[in-house]
Amino acid sequence: MKILVTGGAGFIGSAFVRMALAKAEPARVVNLDKLTYAGNLENLESVAHYPGHRFVHGDIGDARAVDGILDDEKPDAIVHFAAESHVDRSIFSPSPAFETNLRGTFTLLEAARAHRIPRFIHVSTDEVYGSLRAPIEADEDFPLNPSSPYSASKAGSDLLARSYFTTYGLPVIITRASNNYGPFQFPEKLIPLMISNALERRPLPVYGDGMQVRDWLYVDDHCRALMVMLEQGREGEIYNIGGSRSVPNIEVVQKILHATGAPDTLIEHVEDRPGHDRRYALTSAKLIRETGWEAEMSFEQGLAETIDWYRQHAGWIERVKSGEYLNYYARNYDNREAELRKASSARERTKAQ
Ligand code: NAD
Ligand code: DAU
Repeated sequence: MKILVTGGAGFIGSAFVRMALAKAEPARVVNLDKLTYAGNLENLESVAHYPGHRFVHGDIGDARAVDGILDDEKPDAIVHFAAESHVDRSIFSPSPAFETNLRGTFTLLEAARAHRIPRFIHVSTDEVYGSLRAPIEADEDFPLNPSSPYSASKAGSDLLARSYFTTYGLPVIITRASNNYGPFQFPEKLIPLMISNALERRPLPVYGDGMQVRDWLYVDDHCRALMVMLEQGREGEIYNIGGSRSVPNIEVVQKILHATGAPDTLIEHVEDRPGHDRRYALTSAKLIRETGWEAEMSFEQGLAETIDWYRQHAGWIERVKSGEYLNYYARNYDNREAELRKASSARERTKAQ
């Protein structure tokens, strides 16, 4: 099978590419990635020499480039990961999320339609359901209620992808996964940020009271589900993918502190994220019933392995934490209250215009 992967130099995309190339019957992978701050060719070092892997540096929003790839490669499937994936960044600057997640997905869908691509997996997220009160768990028919510019852009692209099935018959499958964690995750997300700060004995910034709940899914379990989707997913359908492991943030942070031998005094409760979703929860019953897939990694084991990975890859962390990351960190953490006030007064100004 020949697969066009978009965003294959990011966290989940690179795990998927490594998995696809390591199979007994490896896929041929064409990997289109813009190499934003989150894209990193180091994530692909172990497969860079594989003959079945072609990396293309480019933007999913560049219609000519995408058309050229589809003309040359005629892939059997597209697995679409490329996105601006971080909620906090989308709060400060919504425009990149709009450009890539919505407009970029539109460009890719148009190209897939013109080239009659036989399978299009749109990697969406459980954030499109918004915050859910316990004990509700979203199934695939649950209404969409996104809160942040990021999740709204993902909800928009999710609906757009669905419309290409309904209107044009493009064989789209939509997956909505819960919070992923594992090796190679950019240290802006909760788990890698807390691990790297704990290892350096720096403060661990917990938003608000830290009682927000996320459902944690090990990245390889997510990628296995996407492999299953390539073969068994039904066209036009939506599939939730969850880890069935809901944990309040503060407990995640405490587990990381204990595993790294860092003191609890490093926890610092900071200004909450605006529009912060209190609880995500979803059921993967449909995926399990139709395909037999199950999450295999326990949260304890996955977290321990992830912490080990970050311990052993100090060079990787040091390199990704240089440059642009430092500016982002200063804005979101060192000057948090002032920067959030600025972002919200910009919102007030927009409203008034
Ligand atoms: P990431 O930020 O680690 O990687 C995103 C990748 O996309 C990067 O390599 C980046 O360079 C690339 N990219 C960004 N804009 C691009 C563009 N215009 N053209 C081409 N490439 C571009 O993201 P991730 O955490 O690996 O998430 C991957 C996908 O999975 C996203 O669609 C995200 O919404 C979805 N998702 C993520 C999670 C999670 O917990 N991280 C959970 C559910 C769904
Ligand atoms: O649910 C799937 C989504 O999970 C994906 O669609 C997104 O791409 C991904 O970024 C993730 O979104 P979250 O906002 O849930 O993930 P994040 O790691 O940013 O935050 C997880 C929780 O931890 C959230 O409640 C906010 C909190 N948090 C996060 C950071 C970075 C903190 O308390 N402190 C922090 O410094």
